[in-house]
Amino acid sequence: MIIPSEISNDLIYRMKEMGANLTADNIYSPDKTSINDAVIQFNGGCTGEIVSPKGLILTNHHCGYGAIQSHSTFEHNYVKDGFWSQSFEEELPNPGMYVTFVRKIEDVTSQVLAGIDENASDSERQSMIQKNINRLKNSLPKKDWQEIEIKSFFDGNSYYAFTVENYKDIRLVAAPPSSIGKFGADTDNWMWPRHTGDFSVFRIYADKNNRPAEYSPDNVPYQPDAFFKISVKPKKPGDFFLIYGFPGRTQEYLPSVAVQQKVDILNPARINTRKTVLDIMKSYMSKNDTIKLQYTAKYARIANYWKKWIGENQGIQRSGAIDKKKEFEKFFLSQVDVLKMDPDYKNIFDEFDKLYQQNKDIELARNYFIEIFYLNNDLFKRAFSLYNLKHAYKNQGKEAFNKLQKKYADRLAGSFKNYNAVVDKDIFIALMNLYAKNMPEKYKNSIFKYNKLMPFLAMNIYDNSVLNDPKALKKLLKKNPKKFIKMIDEDPGYSFAEKFIKDYYQKIAPDYQGIRSKINNLQKKYMKGIKQVMGSRPLYPDANGTLRISYGVIKGYEPRDAVYYYPFSHVKGIIEKYIPGDYEFDVHEKLIDLYRKKEFKPYSNTGEMPVNFLGTAHTTGGNSGSPAINSEGDLIGINFDRVWEGTMSDLYYDQKICRNIMVDINYVLFVIDKIGNDKRLIDEMIIKK
Ligand code: ARG
Ligand code: GLU
Repeated sequence: MIIPSEISNDLIYRMKEMGANLTADNIYSPDKTSINDAVIQFNGGCTGEIVSPKGLILTNHHCGYGAIQSHSTFEHNYVKDGFWSQSFEEELPNPGMYVTFVRKIEDVTSQVLAGIDENASDSERQSMIQKNINRLKNSLPKKDWQEIEIKSFFDGNSYYAFTVENYKDIRLVAAPPSSIGKFGADTDNWMWPRHTGDFSVFRIYADKNNRPAEYSPDNVPYQPDAFFKISVKPKKPGDFFLIYGFPGRTQEYLPSVAVQQKVDILNPARINTRKTVLDIMKSYMSKNDTIKLQYTAKYARIANYWKKWIGENQGIQRSGAIDKKKEFEKFFLSQVDVLKMDPDYKNIFDEFDKLYQQNKDIELARNYFIEIFYLNNDLFKRAFSLYNLKHAYKNQGKEAFNKLQKKYADRLAGSFKNYNAVVDKDIFIALMNLYAKNMPEKYKNSIFKYNKLMPFLAMNIYDNSVLNDPKALKKLLKKNPKKFIKMIDEDPGYSFAEKFIKDYYQKIAPDYQGIRSKINNLQKKYMKGIKQVMGSRPLYPDANGTLRISYGVIKGYEPRDAVYYYPFSHVKGIIEKYIPGDYEFDVHEKLIDLYRKKEFKPYSNTGEMPVNFLGTAHTTGGNSGSPAINSEGDLIGINFDRVWEGTMSDLYYDQKICRNIMVDINYVLFVIDKIGNDKRLIDEMIIKK
């Protein structure tokens, strides 16, 4: 995951050896038009790419899903049937949605760390660093419509400044039916062989001067500095490709003891908690179609990382990651004298051991808290909003309260749309049971005892609390702060939840911060040492949501002994998986028809239509929607997932089993053309024959 401004000659040489025909300047340049001008961060979390002179964007279906869903009604079910606008006028605005261009990347380490006293206390140093960052943000040159962002790299050893542009009028242009865009849903998620048409189409609109602007009917399609041309050339194993995007978070440089803790303690706790929730949801979803519809998206969100963590644990085992890290640690120690490093480094792994011994309970408590109270039960989630409101008033006064109240009113009203109180109550009871059994004693609420009366307590809460009553909640959110606080304090649901939220802020968070800052300091020191030990060998910083490239070749893998996975899937495989009427494996009748007639031209001439393909690029969450670019800089696919056996690549990348999964651009064009009949979009793109 290379910072585009740090592409070395050596790297270009290695890419060339793999077949690439790109220069460092092609990939990124602060003053010339280059590929980075065609890559965007999509709505803060995903990646997207510009594919036409009129600001057309491709990203994943699962990245555009919220927008697609928000425009869907009973009569116009764009999620189910797809959406194919036939003119600019039919493109749909999405309030709040934005995309970000990165125009310039600059190493500002020396400015950020200037005048920092290494002996000052943690908090003093942090505040000096923050001051420097704020000063730099105001002093670095930028245009009126640009912003400067500064981020830490290598665990605080480096800092980079990013000159960015945020465009805020983003319209939905097209989306395939979910039987294509989500084909295989949860069962196939993180899996190969895969057959998902995971793409959607948006467009950037700008003001008359081509600058960022809030939505206005007068805005016009954005004219980008650069856009991708598209290559429909058939692919073969060994082909070079490059992924350009915004990977969210990796932790490649943790000591072995930290990875061991994740595998032995944290992942099992999270997996187990989510399994409890998912099992309950599933039991209701399989019996009741309304609940199934209401809970499909929630289920998918919770299942996504549940499944990822299971794969991660297995991959750490199989790749021998912990032993390999231990070997590296031995090597590291052997270099301390050789390289005349700070002699303190000799104790670093003992210190890590000690700290990771001390943080066990608090890490576990924090993870349980987040999974139980913060992420997986709707009633508790609402309680959190009310808690925030109460404290906005106490800490910031009436104005802050009023502002937040407005914001929450909509969100809380919306939270009842895909909600079933019976399901939520069962989850509540099961989670409280888990809490009683598993929360480390030190952090368990002392007045709370789980017992046989729990179901009755739950009944009382779900029958009488404003948290389970949309009308009462709506009224509550119109009250003045004093009345509001009095009412929630007397509410059986809120007062119950608040005990645990208070535990978090008063006990869990402070303890966590205390030990975390010690671990972070040691990790920063370790990272610095790793850089010394690695010398001139290339070293890439962990993902942190900033723009990166990674590259590789199209390649299959061996998931188990004697099994080999080819790197290409085809429409044939969709038909093989077809289960009529199934919510995961139903197939659009037009697609069946096209398959029967083998009507794939001009997107495939081989008689089989490619769908997804595999490669060896190192990617993670946030790389969804990233362009896959060939040796000439043309678009050949859209990244959307990784294979299950290799999801441990966030902690340890193993060439043998780590693969990223991409949608073939030929399939994207085929679906737009033959399923959507959206010829105007095909005409807008430049397709190289
Ligand atoms: N696993 C892919 C990514 O993190 C796709 C997630 C969306 N699909 C789903 N079934 N939840 O995150
Ligand atoms: N689906 C992921 C995302 O939404 C990308 C896959 C991964 O984690 O590698 O960003």
